[in-house]
Amino acid sequence: MSTYENYHKTSQVYDKTRTAGGVEIILEALKEGALPLKEQVLLDAGCGTGLYSAALVNEVRRIEAADLNAGMLKIAQAKLQTEEQSGRIRFHETAIDSLPLADESVDAVMLNQVLHHLPDNAADGWPAHANVFCEFFRVLKPGGCLIINSCSPEQLEKGFWFYHLIPDAILAIKEKTISLDTLANQLQKIGFSETRQEVPLDLMLQDEAYFRADGILDPDWRRGDSIWSLVEEKTLVDVLETVSDLKQNGKLEPFMQQHDQARKTCGQVTFTITRKH
Ligand SMILES: C[S@@+](CC[C@H](N)C(=O)[O-])C[C@H]1O[C@@H](n2cnc3c(N)ncnc32)[C@H](O)[C@@H]1O
Repeated sequence: MSTYENYHKTSQVYDKTRTAGGVEIILEALKEGALPLKEQVLLDAGCGTGLYSAALVNEVRRIEAADLNAGMLKIAQAKLQTEEQSGRIRFHETAIDSLPLADESVDAVMLNQVLHHLPDNAADGWPAHANVFCEFFRVLKPGGCLIINSCSPEQLEKGFWFYHLIPDAILAIKEKTISLDTLANQLQKIGFSETRQEVPLDLMLQDEAYFRADGILDPDWRRGDSIWSLVEEKTLVDVLETVSDLKQNGKLEPFMQQHDQARKTCGQVTFTITRKH
């Protein structure tokens, strides 16, 4: 469960600004597996509203979709009702560190934008991350693939134009964000190998909505990025006032353009792809 985001509320508006970004990278990684794509069982760990499951359900044999939040799962189930009835997808309301799945029962696992919600930080050595990866190692068949879509600390700092308005929240989220090197080391210790990392520079978590500069003024838009749950109430009032002023003076668009420059070279997300041998 996320320690800071209320996903019951967020589930209602999540799909307004989120898409299954980078699904082509996931497909490419799955195609490297031992079995043909159509025969693979894929675990969508922290499936949320099922955006990635919906994009991939017709590509694989079956999806096991797991999430701790009943609200998010309900949206996913409504979206994939027909596929659930035909057995192409099964939903599990569960924590991803204790999955109701047998050992060596899935061909691949994808984890999209979930890591930063685990109750961990650098000072403790990321034990919740380790528990989740051990669980994935258990349920993966030998040769199976794990695909992790997450933001690196550097991407959090440079990859989002509006984060310049909320520096304290960035510090808070960075404390909960494992570095790419530590992540790769942890995966290796658990037994994963052939780890590689890919950064799709053109992928934005909120897709086109990312460029709706005055979206900040809309609570539904803000619910598309859990960072806003880490912004203090008083700070939020100040930020909304600043954004309104910039908008009124015709300076909001230039502000966005100026602070969006670094994203073009560092991207917003990294895909870490690794294998159990
Ligand atoms: C940012 S959303 C991502 C949803 C989906 N993967 C996507 O990319 O559209 C994070 C999801 O992870 C789920 N989550 C967080 N921690 C979890 C845990 N320990 N076990 C299961 N689900 C978890 C939340 O309930 C939420 O649905």
